[in-house]
Amino acid sequence: MSNTAECRICGGTVEEFFDFGRQPLSDAFVAPGADPAKEFFFRLAVGLCGSCTMVQLMEEVPREAMFHEEYPYHSSGSVVMRGHFEDLAKYLLATELTGDDPFVVEMGCNDGIMLKTLADSGIRHLGVEPSGGVADVAASKGVRVRKSFFEESTAREILAEDGPADAIYAANTLCHIPYMDSILDGVKALLKPTGVFVFEDPYLGEIVKRTSFDQIYDEHFYFFTLRSVQEMAKRHGLELVDARRLDVHGGEVRYTLAHAGARTPTDAVRELLAEEAAAGLAERATLEAFGAKVLKIKEDLVALLRKAKEEGKRVVAYGATAKSATVANLCGLGPDLVEFVCDTTPAKQNRLTPGTHIPVKPAAAFSDPYPDYALLFAWNHADEIMAKEQAFREAGGQWILYVPTVRLV
Ligand code: SAM
Ligand code: TMP
Ligand code: ZN
Repeated sequence: MSNTAECRICGGTVEEFFDFGRQPLSDAFVAPGADPAKEFFFRLAVGLCGSCTMVQLMEEVPREAMFHEEYPYHSSGSVVMRGHFEDLAKYLLATELTGDDPFVVEMGCNDGIMLKTLADSGIRHLGVEPSGGVADVAASKGVRVRKSFFEESTAREILAEDGPADAIYAANTLCHIPYMDSILDGVKALLKPTGVFVFEDPYLGEIVKRTSFDQIYDEHFYFFTLRSVQEMAKRHGLELVDARRLDVHGGEVRYTLAHAGARTPTDAVRELLAEEAAAGLAERATLEAFGAKVLKIKEDLVALLRKAKEEGKRVVAYGATAKSATVANLCGLGPDLVEFVCDTTPAKQNRLTPGTHIPVKPAAAFSDPYPDYALLFAWNHADEIMAKEQAFREAGGQWILYVPTVRLV
């Protein structure tokens, strides 16, 4: 028996391939004393469109429930990501922003992690960011921000006020936006004839390869491939002209779209399209096999944590990531199995994780004293975290990793 929905890109039929069950909002950390009955839950399930091949969620969460004044994710929390976005800003400066008085727009600029470099270089720019708290942080760094959702009407207003853009950029934001017709019509209207729309998001090819199922949560509505991006671009008079893989956030792709016919697609587009055809990313059987691996991870992780508990070992988690809501709620990980989660984000601290209510503590709690095991929820930042927490392993501690398989390191 299969569940279906209408594709948000092409109107075709989306057939479900995995159901994560009842899940909370991944970034809705619960304040102490809050009414548990008020917690928002929805059914997190994911499917494949048989027509345009876009993998997407079966149910949409209202955007205002996720992106609001108190949206807790601050991009600048990671040193590696600060470097990543500085490099991207420099790359844009050297390639797309060399003309006279160039103008850049960023969707989802968050706390200004990328635009700060361009602002400091005196480049005309605008960040469009609906989450008021992080937008204020960006503004405090000298970034020009408009507090709103990017959509077609926003794009047309920006065009009227600032003129056309040389580059539009979005990192970890486009895949968050179900209403793609409005976005791409807005991009098409706002971009100069020679302009580019550059965006980077988690790549379905990596999610399948690493079984990184925790990339699937309320905010991640789409799971792009070159093929599905190419299809969606075509529908709006745009064309995929470049793509490159990125190591960040567990494996992403940076896509470049231009007006159809304006640029010649690079060899990288052809090569990556061939790679993903060989990996069967548009085939149901591939995605069903992924689902079977998710269930195995769930079984192994729960068994390991139960065993640790029986042996009287202390387990804490590291990084109250949005991703971890999917893992914790799928596996039923509450404070009985995981004592607390430590995280550097003040807006998450002294609250409880969504759905499973594990307390979130400041980073300093980790070593006070070290636990026996640390469940690395922020596995996408593993190099950065393991480097700074070397003393944990020296003290005899072990990390628990769960993608692509459950293991101790
Ligand atoms: N670009 C940053 C990065 O890569 O670290 C932030 C990514 S964060 C996961 C996603 C951001 O997109 C949030 O700050 C959210 O408020 C913003 N967002 C969601 N919908 C949006 C929309 N329609 N237009 C612009 N920003 C949006
Ligand atoms: P992300 O996976 O969405 O980037 O979220 C990472 C979370 O992990 C975020 O809440 C910040 C937290 N974090 C730490 O607590 N310590 C760290 O060293 C890093 C890199 C992230
Ligand atoms: Zn479709």
